[in-house]
Amino acid sequence: MSTNNNVLVYWAIIGLLLLTIVGLILKFVVLGRTGNEVDGRVTILLEPSERAIVLNEMRQFLAGIQQIVAAAERNDAAAIAKAAHPLGMAAAHAVPPGLPEKLPLEFKTLGRSVHQDFDRIAMDAEAVSDVRLSLRQLGESIKKCVACHATYQINQVTGAPR
Ligand code: HEC
Repeated sequence: MSTNNNVLVYWAIIGLLLLTIVGLILKFVVLGRTGNEVDGRVTILLEPSERAIVLNEMRQFLAGIQQIVAAAERNDAAAIAKAAHPLGMAAAHAVPPGLPEKLPLEFKTLGRSVHQDFDRIAMDAEAVSDVRLSLRQLGESIKKCVACHATYQINQVTGAPR
């Protein structure tokens, strides 16, 4: 084989490798494991245990919001910080391995952004003790809860249908 042919073969191999890498990124980072639901939302398909973890996190969001609103009504910024802090990025790091690759990129981005919002709410409540600011920040953040719920649904891969 001439040197020219060798170069072609190298490029072909590099091209195939690049395609493989792009494919893997699409599969494991961008697309997640999804289907389409009758009501138009995208269904994310998770194992029952993974679905339980995500939904548990959701209920913690709701419980935290309840505490924040109650604390704001008492004008208690310290309690707002205390309720918001556990919902921050620290909670996001507790995600089990294997779960992130099943979640679409947009879902992960929105989720991360909500966790960051709660860190921000906690930090600002501690720094400036302004409950109206906390409520405004919370209201902005809840728009992301609404947006994500309008787009996604979670079903389990195995077990009885919901
Ligand atoms: C990145 C997307 C996303 C964000 C952000 C998000 N959720 Fe969810 N949430 C979901 C999905 C998906 C479900 C499951 C809905 C379904 O299967 O019908 C869910 C379910 C829930 C549930 C039901 C839990 C259960 O046990 O069934 C509650 C409560 C909830 N979310 C609250 C919130 C609150 C409050 C926020 C904002 C602070 C929030 N979520 C932010 C995606 C999200």
